[in-house]
Amino acid sequence: MVTVTLRNIVKARNGFRLKIDELIVENGEFLTLLGPSGCGKTTTLRMIAGFERPDRGEILFDGRPVNDLPPYERNIGIVFQDYALFPHMTVFKNVAFGLEMKGLPKSEIERKVRWALEIVGLTGLENRYPEQLSGGQQQRVALARALVVEPEVLLLDEPLSNLDAKIRERLRGEIRRIQRELGITTIYVTHDQEEAMAISDRIAVMNVGRVEQVGKPLELYYRPETEFVARFLGLSNILELEAENGRACLNELCFDVGRSGRVRIFFRPESVYIMKGDTAEVLDYELLPGRIRLKLGIGDRVILAERFLDELPFSVEEMPERVDVRVRSFSVLGQ
Ligand SMILES: Nc1ncnc2c1ncn2[C@@H]1O[C@H](COP(=O)(O)OP(=O)(O)OP(=O)(O)O)[C@@H](O)[C@H]1O
Ligand SMILES: [Mg+2]
Repeated sequence: MVTVTLRNIVKARNGFRLKIDELIVENGEFLTLLGPSGCGKTTTLRMIAGFERPDRGEILFDGRPVNDLPPYERNIGIVFQDYALFPHMTVFKNVAFGLEMKGLPKSEIERKVRWALEIVGLTGLENRYPEQLSGGQQQRVALARALVVEPEVLLLDEPLSNLDAKIRERLRGEIRRIQRELGITTIYVTHDQEEAMAISDRIAVMNVGRVEQVGKPLELYYRPETEFVARFLGLSNILELEAENGRACLNELCFDVGRSGRVRIFFRPESVYIMKGDTAEVLDYELLPGRIRLKLGIGDRVILAERFLDELPFSVEEMPERVDVRVRSFSVLGQ
């Protein structure tokens, strides 16, 4: 397995410019490129795979530059969104294709294909054709085909986005299990923040051709550095306040920010605790399975709070007009 490094990468094309100063994917790590449509995720993945060349900068596998190597010499496995299976070949043949191209002996091909199909849970379906498989099964074939060559780096570009929600959840768990089992350095592309949170060791959040922040899922979720990262990963409260003597206050709700001047304070709805009292007006609320999301007015601002129902100091039927709030964790956003 290898460490993948992107250094001083620039790639420009009709008005779009991708620029990554440094991105390091550690040996055996599962790193996800997460960002909205058009931010450059696929372009980044295609450069790592060798389908596209950067205008500038280097891509290194374990410190060796691979810029000049074609995809088939990079020892990668790749899975696309649309499976890209050969329709006229059986499952077995689809998975065996790369090994046959390499000219491996028949018995070895047989052994490796069986191994790959077992890993992805398709044993028994060797003789089916792609059209006789469900979408989830087709994507498993694509995954087996990527794994069968025992790649050093596994690249996946939105592999689950054509599948329905239940299968997506199951298959992402399996991809994660297989990745752990094989310890393979993996770069995964998605625009779905929940999927990224569930599957990744670390996430690189991208926005218009740049990496905004890289970190562990919960680090990014609770301590985003920018408003973009905060909002992309989930519901956010962002309060722009004037701090004095290290404290920024919205009426009685105060934050120790350790500086003065204008600050933007960020916290998640679930960091807002609710007590009996009268700091905030209950403007509205909605019930979610087992939880409640409240819209609270403090002065001229509105914040969201989210709690499990059994955490409230009152029943929903007896919702008071005003409540006290306490924010347990927050961060101060950069520019
Ligand atoms: N073959 C191409 N020729 C010209 N421009 C392209 C090409 N492929 C992508 N682009 C442009 O490059 C930019 C980045 O595209 P890219 O496919 O990397 O985005 P993405 O993050 O993968 O988006 P999505 O989530 O929609 O797949 C976009 O502005 C896109 O329009
Ligand atoms: Mg893409």
